[in-house]
Amino acid sequence: MKTGALIIGLGAALPSRRLTNQELEKLVDTSDEWITQRTGIKERRIVGPGESNSKLAVKAARQALERAGISPEELDLIIVGTLTPDYLMPSVAVLVQKELGAHRAGAFDLSATCSGFIYGLAVADQFVRVDPERKILVIGSEVLSKKVNWQDRTTCVLFGDGAGAAVVTGSYNENRGLLSAHLHADGSLWHLLTLKGCGSLYPPCGDELPLEEYYIRMQGREVFKNAVRAMETVALEALSANDLSPEDIDLVVPHQANIRIIEYLRERLGLPREKVFVNLHKYGNTSAASIPIALAEAQEEGRLNPGDLVLMVAFGGGFTWASALMRW
Ligand code: UT7
Repeated sequence: MKTGALIIGLGAALPSRRLTNQELEKLVDTSDEWITQRTGIKERRIVGPGESNSKLAVKAARQALERAGISPEELDLIIVGTLTPDYLMPSVAVLVQKELGAHRAGAFDLSATCSGFIYGLAVADQFVRVDPERKILVIGSEVLSKKVNWQDRTTCVLFGDGAGAAVVTGSYNENRGLLSAHLHADGSLWHLLTLKGCGSLYPPCGDELPLEEYYIRMQGREVFKNAVRAMETVALEALSANDLSPEDIDLVVPHQANIRIIEYLRERLGLPREKVFVNLHKYGNTSAASIPIALAEAQEEGRLNPGDLVLMVAFGGGFTWASALMRW
């Protein structure tokens, strides 16, 4: 029987260092009140000495594997959604493969910004539909604190570091697993959210590019407008493709960028607060890591149970946006 991807183990890893809004008040012209009201974020986690993207990814992966009851040698593939790899080469995925000792697994990074985890899940789904025995690790991992301009109050208050991981395999049950994934992109709006420096067009030591372009830059209001529209549309697309309606959903796990975006989505779907998972206040926006971290926490809180209908929705730079509907 060829059925879709099922998540059988989840894990998360967050740096121990907490950076609060009050600490940011000392760095830039901002306030706890502004950040809380405009974003919903109270604190975020920031890597310290000895911590890195790949180390967080490995920690999250080990937890996910243990919970799935799978050994690293059983893995066929490792996919890491990230925009902040340790190095441009090699990928985070191969560092994870080495550290886990996942000798049989292929490994690659996937660049789809905040939609990276859902894109990765959609790729894994294609593999397990061909062979449901495949075991795939899908990770979202970011160290955004190293790519944030700590003098730019319009971005530095938003982002955080962390990793989340999911072990995926075939479901062997038509009523469980990934029902659909919808992936979208609009490259014509790429300039609204960028990290230009250190690619091959603008190498690190070049002097053609202003220093601020070596950090994340965002036209926040424009991104916001596109995010609310796209997340609602792609959420409804998932429901309509499966002949389901919002009241069928047990839990929405949205990308954690701004509480106002999440609230807008919740209102448009007509859902009560308890059906939408939020941990943004603790971690800020962790890009590709936000959904797998949220899934891992939702499960720990007993909010993800077999048979639940779970809707994941993401939006990020590119633009990319995506939804995944899974019967847990
Ligand atoms: O994960 C990828 C997707 N990313 C997103 O979805 C993020 C989408 N955008 C947003 O979440 C919001 O646009 C932001 C949180 C980034 C900004 O909120 P906003 O309500 O859209 O604020 P704004 O950019 O329109 O700025 C309003 C005012 C400005 O001052 P003036 O020009 O009105 O005097 C900003 O300079 O707020 C000011 N401002 C700040 N004030 C205090 C901007 N950042 C800050 C700050 N502290 N940190």
